[in-house]
Amino acid sequence: MALDIKARFASYTERWMLLWIGAKCLFAELFSDGFSNLLDRTFAKLYTSLSHDFAKCEADLSPVPRYVALADGITLELGPGCGTQLPRMNAKALTHVYGIEPNTEIIPALQEKVESLPEIRPIYTTINASFEDEAALKAHGIVEASLDTIVCMQVMCSVPDAVNAAKRAHRLLKPGGQFLFWEHTANFCQLNVSGLWNIIWSPLLGGCAMGVDVETAIMNAGPWDIVELGRDEGSERPYNLLPRVWGRLVKVEQ
Ligand SMILES: C[S@@+](CC[C@H](N)C(=O)[O-])C[C@H]1O[C@@H](n2cnc3c(N)ncnc32)[C@H](O)[C@@H]1O
Repeated sequence: MALDIKARFASYTERWMLLWIGAKCLFAELFSDGFSNLLDRTFAKLYTSLSHDFAKCEADLSPVPRYVALADGITLELGPGCGTQLPRMNAKALTHVYGIEPNTEIIPALQEKVESLPEIRPIYTTINASFEDEAALKAHGIVEASLDTIVCMQVMCSVPDAVNAAKRAHRLLKPGGQFLFWEHTANFCQLNVSGLWNIIWSPLLGGCAMGVDVETAIMNAGPWDIVELGRDEGSERPYNLLPRVWGRLVKVEQ
């Protein structure tokens, strides 16, 4: 069996630049403000400084801008980070947008983005909590069958339990409500390599983990109508540690 050393090496090491930038942010934050909240500060600095590049990549290579523009009614964005997706929202279609973001250190950048968007500002509420915090959701009226849209872009890899997070998302949507997502998922042939990378990848990247089976978690969360579903084909890049999955799912009316 061919070992494909070159292809493997290229796939296993292609994210080294992001890790290098993460390490630089970590040391910059450590020397400026010490250990307090260090990993959250590191992620906030990294993500905010690269958000322009991430937004461009998404626009060039993914359905993300098109999906985000489909958000309507009462919308919850999971993990908005520094608000990269907000300019893509169609304010006229939205009743209200809630962004639930646990990283306190990134909230100022998120607020700045909200303030810069006059159509979004009056209809936006930031919830500084994690998606697991049902009391925080309830305090904003986000309860079972209360949402028209959930926007979930690159978040399921960071939540502590993707299976339960996906089930919660399904539960919170109204029947007919839509779940819009673009995530990376597991490459089952590469779980050992993912596990090794996670030792440094997760702390530098806000808890993001490679190798989480996000696709199964979402698809098994409850009954969906599949409007659109796509994934990177394994045969094209068999050693890819971050294969993408994306979709527009609608909660089935029961
Ligand atoms: C990779 S960033 C993506 C940010 C944004 N969705 C985007 O598309 O640019 C992941 C975000 O999810 C947030 N996050 C991590 N765990 C979370 C949780 N349990 N609940 C909600 N958000 C979470 C992180 O703080 C981070 O801002």
